[in-house]
Amino acid sequence: MIPSRLDQLERHEKLRLQAKAMQRPEAHLKNLITAADRLEHYSVRGGGLFLDYSRQRIDNSARQLLFGLDQELALRDRFARMMHGERLNVTENRAVLHTAARSFADDPVVLDGVDVMPEIRRVRDQIKFFSEQVHTGQITGANGRPFRHVVVIGIGGSYLGPEFVSTALAALADRNITLHYLANVDIDNFGAVAAAIDPPSTLWVVISKSFTTAETSANTIQAEQFMRAKGLDPSRHMITVTSKGSPGDDPSRPVLQTFHMFDFIGGRYSVTSAVGGVPLSLLLGYDRFEAFLKGAAEMDAHALNAPVEQNLPLIAALLSVWNTTYLGYQQQGIIPYSSPLAKLAPHVQQLNMESNGKAVDTAGAFLPEPAGVVIFGEPGTNAQHSFFQLAHQGKPFPIDFIGVRTPQHTQYQARSKGVTNHQELWANLLAQARALAVGRDHADKARHFDGNRPSSTIVLDDLAPENIGRLLSFYEARTVYEGFIWGVNSFDQFGVELGKTVADSLRSEMARKNDQPGYDFAGTDPISRAYLEMLFSADQ
Ligand code: F6P
Repeated sequence: MIPSRLDQLERHEKLRLQAKAMQRPEAHLKNLITAADRLEHYSVRGGGLFLDYSRQRIDNSARQLLFGLDQELALRDRFARMMHGERLNVTENRAVLHTAARSFADDPVVLDGVDVMPEIRRVRDQIKFFSEQVHTGQITGANGRPFRHVVVIGIGGSYLGPEFVSTALAALADRNITLHYLANVDIDNFGAVAAAIDPPSTLWVVISKSFTTAETSANTIQAEQFMRAKGLDPSRHMITVTSKGSPGDDPSRPVLQTFHMFDFIGGRYSVTSAVGGVPLSLLLGYDRFEAFLKGAAEMDAHALNAPVEQNLPLIAALLSVWNTTYLGYQQQGIIPYSSPLAKLAPHVQQLNMESNGKAVDTAGAFLPEPAGVVIFGEPGTNAQHSFFQLAHQGKPFPIDFIGVRTPQHTQYQARSKGVTNHQELWANLLAQARALAVGRDHADKARHFDGNRPSSTIVLDDLAPENIGRLLSFYEARTVYEGFIWGVNSFDQFGVELGKTVADSLRSEMARKNDQPGYDFAGTDPISRAYLEMLFSADQ
């Protein structure tokens, strides 16, 4: 039987020893990268992207050990099984078919004897038709005004992916539509959105797989009341993206249209389904959404087919596990040198941390230590003026630097110190990766830099929709491969439940107090009670 996780392999011990060997002075990055062919041997191009891992703390022995995990843990085989509909989400007995959402192949994807592709194509056609009707003014608000504002109500996986992609492609938004996000239950989020829209020309898109998420329900009720107060019929200003048969797919609660998402696509993997499809097509036009899907499909094919030595997401996953489990780094930074990619890190944060932040393996046994890694990030150069002090001299963390060869705005060419803004940006990207790797000796300890701080550099040709699709799929596949290596189920999220349950009981206490002002929060613990008293004594 194939072992299902890393620490069950003999190779695990070898990797541990190898990690120790990487502490030798001669294995310092400043030495590793002096080899003239280091970049050539430690970089790959594939699926439309370029990955340079020359400044990761590995040598040939470490790499060979890591690459061997592909076979020993049947990694690409498991990826293939995922794409073919095997129920890899064992705790929820679900298939994991986000890759089908962007497939344009003629091949069927069969689940329980049924090809899921016709239904996926039907939803895509529905999105195309609906968004075109909105753009041409065939579908309007109740007063006949064309829709000019779209407010997406949704949270977590029903928000972060669309926000990443719509931010990345905002320069292409030429359909006269402004997109707003209402994710947080915080009334100040609602208030800011309400102040920014024109209600008669606003379409509300409620995205929720379950349609039971507390934040999304509260915001939907708030939006409906807001519309009624403006004399508008909510059913003429609202659409839903949800699972078939959910409370958002209920004919007794009519809306303009409902778009289905499927239980075989998890929330954080759902950007290429109707979750991203509806808002992105409204913002950019359906054709650009389709171009984005095709880029993602290209990277899926690469992740599935490329041998380990050339497989970008698989190499990135192996490096991530190497850095975390063997070299002991518990954080990873994602630093795109591209402002339109500002929302990549928040998206990958949920994608990766909700997927792999787990304490049990797929067989239900506790892991020797919890899996996962803390992910955070900000665009460069802003990040340099924020937390890079710590990156250089404080606790080290590996970084994914992301560079874009051609920016969206090439018409502004003023030079400062002899270079354009884009060249300045690249000078900084290259400088940071090098400075972190090499460091600097200095007699004054405050000015000394250890170096030996690892990073990868990922390069996109430009920010075309296809490339954003490739980048999205790269991080999804990397996450999935990491989960396979650690042996966890990357597709459930029971860790979010306890907090929700505790909130349920506190909510009941508050509701009771609203009904009976004399109620003294008898059902709560003393600390929570003190806070509830503080809250109820304020002007809310
Ligand atoms: O945060 C927990 C979570 O269940 C995420 O996994 C999910 O993306 C999000 O809530 C929203 O869920 P839904 O789409 O059902 O509203």
